[in-house]
Amino acid sequence: MGAHRQGVRRQARLRPRAVDGIIGAVFHPPIRPAAMRRISLSRYLIEEQREKHWIEADLRLLIEVVARACKSISIAVSKGALADALGSAGAENVQGEVQKKLDVISNEILLEANEWGGHLAAMASEEMEHPHQIPHRFPRGEYLLLFDPLDGSSNIDVNVSVGTIFSVLRCPEGASATDDAVFLQRGAEQVAAGFAVYGPSTLLVLTLGHGVAVFTLDREMGSFILTQDGLTIPADTAEFAINMSNLRHWEPPVRRYIDECLAGKTGPRGKDFNMRWVASMVADLFRILTRGGVFMYPCDAKNTRGRLRLMYEANPMAFIVEQAGGAATDGRRRILDIVPEALHQRVGLVIGSKNEVERVTRYHQDAGAA
Ligand code: F6P
Repeated sequence: MGAHRQGVRRQARLRPRAVDGIIGAVFHPPIRPAAMRRISLSRYLIEEQREKHWIEADLRLLIEVVARACKSISIAVSKGALADALGSAGAENVQGEVQKKLDVISNEILLEANEWGGHLAAMASEEMEHPHQIPHRFPRGEYLLLFDPLDGSSNIDVNVSVGTIFSVLRCPEGASATDDAVFLQRGAEQVAAGFAVYGPSTLLVLTLGHGVAVFTLDREMGSFILTQDGLTIPADTAEFAINMSNLRHWEPPVRRYIDECLAGKTGPRGKDFNMRWVASMVADLFRILTRGGVFMYPCDAKNTRGRLRLMYEANPMAFIVEQAGGAATDGRRRILDIVPEALHQRVGLVIGSKNEVERVTRYHQDAGAA
């Protein structure tokens, strides 16, 4: 790891220092000038390509373009009512969900930004029934981009964090990108994945298959700056995230797990658990990446095939979480091993701190064996 990267990890410390005769904790600035410590996304990617040879130039371009699109989406989201961007677009997407104006705007931003660079063979979006082909006037590349342009968009009108999730696959050699089938690859085949959170600050979480890095958007400079590298999820946790209103629909293993958490100190787990549910997966997952936890949207009697999308949500998040030392299953199988059957396929999801995900998965196995 380079000295610069280590510098980012080093936290600015609080040191007691005399200030006008008062002893107080004051911010002690790091020794190196700020400008030298700042690693932009561009520089990070160039180092991944040139020094570590972990990515190719086209993949670097792809990530930069997606990040640029996320900046534009962040601006649109932050303008909200001022840009008349809130509310419904008056249509439904392929999933039968009401599209918000910002769903449509975000989808357009990602399509427009990515179609002319020559790095993509095709794109697939949660908001579109069929893949988007690269117009003939532009060159074609070897990558496939999949995205959920605005995850958690039901939160948009109430000013809660939303985000963009993306996944990158390689287009199989000789395959026609006009065929949905080229996208139907296991999550383990992803070459990159990431998500942006449009919250109090705009963040970009990225994996290129060698750990997880977080970039924060410097709004004045207009660039994403590396603020965390080598992110690791604690293996244990005392916090879970699930939509409790679905309790009556859950399968017995999920009920058993949550009952045990709710029993607290005097129950079988011997500790109290806390619950958080933002109802915006990007926000819930960023919290889990930061301080641990388990997120569940399992298959249940209402959503027998699960609620979240395998290709646009579960796969990219599972790749990121595994890269951070966590785990992700559908309750039975590792998410990244699932062979997709359809582009818009749904899946049950249990994701986050390794030991908790393994426990939930074990409860499913126990129930299956009983
Ligand atoms: O799939 C979209 C999504 O909004 C996720 O971001 C979120 O975790 C989930 O759905 C919220 O589901 P519910 O509306 O059941 O709380």
